[in-house]
Amino acid sequence: MFADPSAARMTPRYSRRVVEERDAHAELLADFRAGMLEPPRSLPPKYFYDARGSQLFDAICDTPEYYPTRLEAELLEHHAGAIMEASGARTLFELGSGTSRKTEYLLEALAARVAQPHYVANDVCGEILDEAGVRLLQRFEQLQVDSLCGDYTAALAHLGEVSGALADGPRLFAFLGSSLGNFEDAEAGDLLRRIRETMKPEDRLLLGLDRIKPRPVLEAAYNDAAGVTAAFNLNLLAVLNTELGADFDPEGFEHRAPFVEDQSRIEMHLVSRRDQVVHVSEPEARLEIAEDEAIRTEISRKFSRAAIDRLLAIAGLEHESEWSAPEDWYSLFLLRPGVA
Ligand code: SAH
Ligand code: TRP
Repeated sequence: MFADPSAARMTPRYSRRVVEERDAHAELLADFRAGMLEPPRSLPPKYFYDARGSQLFDAICDTPEYYPTRLEAELLEHHAGAIMEASGARTLFELGSGTSRKTEYLLEALAARVAQPHYVANDVCGEILDEAGVRLLQRFEQLQVDSLCGDYTAALAHLGEVSGALADGPRLFAFLGSSLGNFEDAEAGDLLRRIRETMKPEDRLLLGLDRIKPRPVLEAAYNDAAGVTAAFNLNLLAVLNTELGADFDPEGFEHRAPFVEDQSRIEMHLVSRRDQVVHVSEPEARLEIAEDEAIRTEISRKFSRAAIDRLLAIAGLEHESEWSAPEDWYSLFLLRPGVA
């Protein structure tokens, strides 16, 4: 039906708006200044996802080593009906929706329950939102899709703008892929609290979280044999070269992803293969990076039950139901806003 993703914007069943709290480029500049000028260097997780980064992430999900996508997809496949039933939702709102492939299980269950299902998707990557939108409109004939392109917090702030008549009634918020695990406790708590503050008492949150398991399984998932995750990690340097006029040499860095057990998280690193100097035009900077120095590009937390309950308590969210993969390797939690 739509050969060209931009054609999606011509149907009344699709909209995409850009939502920003702050100018996205200014934010990258500020984050780069804060994290990259001096060792230990690090960057927040959202800058991986330009069009190529999003494609590479999609390819990671298809690698045999990356178990989280498969486990979460199986849980959704088997329990989407029960999840939708328990939530009573008429609208699905997803944070960091990516390709929305797993979301199709939830949309199928939603479309079976309501005549005019409504899906509000949010992602920092506009291309992936349009592509997913086109696919979903073809598959679900009555579906309304509204995309909010921007940061999680901006999408939460602007959600009210898309809640027309179709968005009335209880909403299911979804935050899948263990993306919450890409944030340290303080930020993760803030984000969950923002979500809870945006929820009405009848809304529910479906949260997908990766759990603790043997180290070899964890480390293989973030260092697949085909090198897709390495390419994804290194693509961050291409993003910085484009956005900041930098001259990072991807050949000068190596992908590493150790499981740091005392922090219960995978850390994604780009390790410098040699002493090197990197020039950046905006902000004007000259980075001296030593051989073996690591830039920390991502954390991916593996949650114990205690860590989950602590975060939920901080954010004011309460357990309603949950579904877990065998041996608790991955869990989906259906949560309700607590009394504030
Ligand atoms: N939910 C999908 C995708 C997970 S990858 C799944 O479970 O497979 C994380 C997604 O979140 C990517 O599509 C990325 O572009 C998006 N993302 C990352 N940081 C974000 C942020 N701060 N705000 C909104 N979206 C973000
Ligand atoms: N939310 C995903 C996770 O923590 C993100 C992710 C998967 C990721 N593989 C990655 C991030 C590799 C950076 C590099 O599992």
